[in-house]
Amino acid sequence: MTLVTDRTAAFKSSRFRVISGALLVLAIVGGVFAYNHFFRTEPAPFFASDEDHFLFGSIGTEETDGIPYWIWLVLPRIFPEYLPAPGGYASLGVLSKDGHEMPVGFSKVTIGFERVGINCAICHAASYRLRPDDPPTVVAAAASHQMAPQQYVRFLFACASDPRFSADTIMAEIAKNYRLPLTERLLYRFAIIPGTRRAILRLKNQDAWMNDRPDWGRGRIDPFNPVKFGRLAQQVDATIGNSDMQPVWNLNAHAGGVFHWDGLNTNLQEVVLSSAIGDGANNKWVDRDFSRWNETDPRRMSSLRRIQNFIGAAKPPKYPLPIDATLAAAGATVFQGECASCHAFGGARTGALIPLEEIGTDRHRLDMWTPASAAAYNAYGEGHAWKFSRFRSTKGYASVPLDGIWLRAPYLHNGSVPSLGDLLKPAASRPTGFWRGYDVFDPISVGFVTAGREAERAGTWFDTTRPGNSNAGHAYGTMLPADKKRELIEYLRTF
Ligand code: HEC
Ligand code: HEC
Repeated sequence: MTLVTDRTAAFKSSRFRVISGALLVLAIVGGVFAYNHFFRTEPAPFFASDEDHFLFGSIGTEETDGIPYWIWLVLPRIFPEYLPAPGGYASLGVLSKDGHEMPVGFSKVTIGFERVGINCAICHAASYRLRPDDPPTVVAAAASHQMAPQQYVRFLFACASDPRFSADTIMAEIAKNYRLPLTERLLYRFAIIPGTRRAILRLKNQDAWMNDRPDWGRGRIDPFNPVKFGRLAQQVDATIGNSDMQPVWNLNAHAGGVFHWDGLNTNLQEVVLSSAIGDGANNKWVDRDFSRWNETDPRRMSSLRRIQNFIGAAKPPKYPLPIDATLAAAGATVFQGECASCHAFGGARTGALIPLEEIGTDRHRLDMWTPASAAAYNAYGEGHAWKFSRFRSTKGYASVPLDGIWLRAPYLHNGSVPSLGDLLKPAASRPTGFWRGYDVFDPISVGFVTAGREAERAGTWFDTTRPGNSNAGHAYGTMLPADKKRELIEYLRTF
């Protein structure tokens, strides 16, 4: 009672009124300022073509996991020693296309301030060259064999762990490029830089589990353990889920089949939505995006739906060199006899899960995804319109269609076999180590060049004796005579 009276009395004093009025104005201005500078979301940039949307568009990863644009831009200049080679992010296998500000696989969206997120194309776009001095050809929806996602996050961890990740150093580097308005300068100095550093160090801590497992290397990632230990809050276990990127073209033709190397889901929509979640889109963003799932105007439709449309229809690129038609025709017969049952569209076991005991390839990726993980992902979206129900744990690897197989090296789910020529050798004769990540095409074996100075400079070493990296199994065709193998490989170029 007395308190209220005292307050009323105080309020009546005009001096107090002036002060509180000023405070109120300040609070409103401060609120608007904070809102504008931290949260006001501008529409994500629009890309007229579905392909550009796939390569550069937003999948909602900027809000929670995004990196403030100016920090992201200057880090490679401040810390080149934490990158594998000169050249900034390109040294990690990040691709770019003329006429686009951002590299392939990176989106830029303003949520208060400009933030950079990743999208599907960081792992699902590849480059190849026919000769070392050609410019790279960038292929959307291909399996990236050149990008090093683990080195990218480790680069960020190393930067944030360095005392030079400070307002002074970063602001000085930004100032060399651009004069930020005063408010932004203050914001960067006192809030964004320290906040980003803390966030990256938190992530470094969260991802510590990956340090005592074999490195992913170029073109590979452990895609589901981060989801298990992060979003699904499962206990950190000892599994190794390292797997090769998959292409995401022509997926309408795979409909009714299985998705992911072990067929852990059978529904493309769920795979697309869960991929965005796995990459850092938060549930609120997914709710918003999903509410526009059935819009058809590209300017208003769901970003993920547009991506699903694109990867459903995108065609793999044609083999870029001449093919010997007679040899290929002979190879078609070999394929029919040895491979078609599992790999031709409509084959009796195409899209089936071939039990581990039968296929004989490395088992780690399979053991990583347990029934408990599948159940947890199916329960994860409880209360959301997009809730999942098709996750499952399986006991085999999927026999996938081989469309665009010439551009899918290295082969098998763990990327352990560098070329088609090597896949047709008995496991004991396949290379036990090779450089992967170099994008010059090897037209003889059908794969990428895996040795030599340039391959070493651009690549990471793949050691098939490390856990998760076995190149054993898939013995099909390995006993064919050499001429039959040549015919078969010629035919596979036509896919
Ligand atoms: C950080 C890398 C990365 C990003 C980003 C990524 N993926 Fe993937 N994706 C993979 C890997 C690796 C696999 C194979 C995983 C496995 O089964 O072990 C895969 C598999 C898939 C498959 C299954 C393909 C098939 O034939 O079965 C689809 C579909 C897919 N991704 C779609 C997407 C979409 C859509 C996005 C963006 C919303 C996305 N991915 C983002 C790495 C990535
Ligand atoms: C019994 C079914 C079966 C037969 C027969 C079969 N494969 Fe496979 N193939 C698979 C499975 C399952 C995988 C995935 C295995 C893994 O990654 O661990 C696979 C993977 C592959 C891959 C790698 C795909 C990629 O994107 O990395 C190629 C290439 C391939 N097979 C070619 C062939 C050829 C050529 C033949 C015939 C000589 C053949 N396969 C016969 C089941 C089969």
